[in-house]
Amino acid sequence: MPRSALSILSQRDFNGDVLPDALLMKTFEQLIEEHGYVLMCNVPEGFDPVRFCRRLGSFVPNYTGAVVGDVRPEPGMDDVYHAGNTRPLTPHSEGYDFAIEPPRYIALWCVAPAEGPGGETTIADTRPWVEALTEDERARLLSTEYSWKTTEGIQRLGLDLKTLHPILEESPQGLIVRFSCNNLIREDDDLAAEVQRRWHESFDAEHIAIEYRERDMLVWDNWRLLHARNAFNDRRRHLRRIQIAASA
Ligand SMILES: [Fe+2]
Repeated sequence: MPRSALSILSQRDFNGDVLPDALLMKTFEQLIEEHGYVLMCNVPEGFDPVRFCRRLGSFVPNYTGAVVGDVRPEPGMDDVYHAGNTRPLTPHSEGYDFAIEPPRYIALWCVAPAEGPGGETTIADTRPWVEALTEDERARLLSTEYSWKTTEGIQRLGLDLKTLHPILEESPQGLIVRFSCNNLIREDDDLAAEVQRRWHESFDAEHIAIEYRERDMLVWDNWRLLHARNAFNDRRRHLRRIQIAASA
């Protein structure tokens, strides 16, 4: 059973009035610091998600170059592991295939929810899992550079990205966690394979499932949380996404 979201921010107050901008931002900052994610609901029609995201940092373009990306089923992509179809995605962090550090925040908002079952974005916090590592494991995950590849879907778009990064990286703004169930290249007896098994299991047990209503917006700390997706049937499901760099 997925857990319920705790970090929910209503853009309208108890009277149904839109929250003042400064209060919205203050509560958002408190919630994301505490939980690593915020689900914004009761979003008024006039809300501008792009303007909101701009206050969190500078934008990192999506793979296609589009700064505001579309996540929806794309023609000819149903047979590969790719966000642009209706299939499930396994737990991962975003941007392990970037040469630069991964985006700090990912924002997804709902243009059209999926009718019927499925289509939830699922998220889980790696912080307790990292804390549960032994000192030796942590040291190895910080010091071992692994090879990462991009997903099949992105390769089909003509981007064959290959990178070399550790799973854990200390940065001045905090710990960066990189993770993939299928695009992290390792031997079967490597610690990384054990971490994949352990964290995938923890993700399945502890994740929060976000069911979108129109205009709902989910923002999470991509250095701290992993995300995935449940399969769905409704090909009209449409989200938009922005990736935001860590502010210096
Ligand atoms: Fe993703």
